[in-house]
Amino acid sequence: MSEKPQTPDEKLQREFNRWAEAGEGPKMENHHLDITEKTIRRMNLRPGERVLDLGCGSGWASRLLARLVADGPEGFGQVIGVDVSDEMIRLARASSKDFENVMYVWGSATGIPWEENFFDKVLSVESFYYYPDQERALAELFRVMAPKGHLFILINLYKDNPYSLQWVDKLKVPVHVRSAAEYVDLLKKHAFEDVEYLQIPDETPTPDNYVTKSFRSLEDLKAFKRVGGLLLMATKPDFRTPAPGYVVY
Ligand SMILES: C[S@@+](CC[C@H](N)C(=O)[O-])C[C@H]1O[C@@H](n2cnc3c(N)ncnc32)[C@H](O)[C@@H]1O
Repeated sequence: MSEKPQTPDEKLQREFNRWAEAGEGPKMENHHLDITEKTIRRMNLRPGERVLDLGCGSGWASRLLARLVADGPEGFGQVIGVDVSDEMIRLARASSKDFENVMYVWGSATGIPWEENFFDKVLSVESFYYYPDQERALAELFRVMAPKGHLFILINLYKDNPYSLQWVDKLKVPVHVRSAAEYVDLLKKHAFEDVEYLQIPDETPTPDNYVTKSFRSLEDLKAFKRVGGLLLMATKPDFRTPAPGYVVY
């Protein structure tokens, strides 16, 4: 990696490598587990399915997914975790040695290193608002998703949870701040169908002596959890994306 990051992806790589080196990768499981488990239940995963975990970080959610799609009557399912931070990918690989059906690939959401029409389901936890070009990321998700594949994007930083907005100035990389309605419009613009959203409260208890650096007060943290994360859901139409170089006339 160069000393002075040039591209937005290199800046993200550098910042999240720093998070990984500071031990933040596995810690995120504590912050995101409640809303992620609720989302995974909605994903209705079955053995044999192919799942992408986009912005997988240290891979804890990929491993939860891998258990649910592994060997069964419908075949041997696979989970692919993709992250722009090579240090996160290293952590994820080191923690997943016991899994035969998880693979981690270093790459960006704006150029997902995978083939067309592959994934039955996609999960992305607390990653989408960092993508410099969210439209490009949606086009890439559409490309790699199987016809009738299902997309699940979880976002904690969005306009309809006003308590989350206090993070924006603390983050060292630029982020998008959109509303649920704006995200729905964006997904529809990218030809996704059955677009809907839910707000999922985080029901993890907050101890009274909990110390927070991310929020101005414990009351703000509790209010943030009550409002909850934004879950965006959408389906790719029954359409096979052509391979690169193939032109549809
Ligand atoms: C807040 S962390 C969440 C990680 C993980 N999903 C979790 O819940 O623990 C955001 C993750 O998104 C990744 N990320 C940010 N921008 C990305 C991009 N353009 N492409 C792929 N991953 C990206 C970061 O490297 C980081 O691991």
